[in-house]
Amino acid sequence: MQRKTFVIFGIVAVFLAVIVPAWALSTDGSESSAPEAVPADLETGKDLFVTNCGACHTLYKAGTDGVVAPNLDELLAPPGPVAPDPDSIYPRVLSSVNNGVGGRMPAGILSGQQAEEVSWFVAKVAGKR
Ligand code: HEC
Repeated sequence: MQRKTFVIFGIVAVFLAVIVPAWALSTDGSESSAPEAVPADLETGKDLFVTNCGACHTLYKAGTDGVVAPNLDELLAPPGPVAPDPDSIYPRVLSSVNNGVGGRMPAGILSGQQAEEVSWFVAKVAGKR
């Protein structure tokens, strides 16, 4: 009886000491393969978006789920027969960031190169899954 208890305790201890940490480590690594992964040249824009825009806007590729402002996937690249064109989306995003929108989105959240970078990121990934 005593011996059996000891064996069971041993098995539980091994489970906690080895298997759980091993599982935790292996699931950690999967973050980079999440659906929100973006090409390296868009990483800066993505970080800017997450920090400065994501609280208000949902954008799938940025992994944000803000609800006080329009969902940018649906607004900028609605599903349809024509694939979204980053070159035509970009100026709309850049002017939104520089000038604000309808008095509801403040102007100048970002400016200069950061405004361009975040806008290009949005233009490239809007509507992409
Ligand atoms: C404080 C909340 C808030 C933040 C932060 C914010 N927005 Fe907005 N944004 C809004 C709201 C609200 C609207 C809709 C305004 C309207 O239609 O009256 C909007 C609209 C837009 C539009 C659509 C404009 C159009 O052509 O209809 C774009 C693009 C946009 N935002 C991009 C961004 C980007 C990029 C950032 C980060 C730099 C950002 N927003 C940060 C609230 C926000």
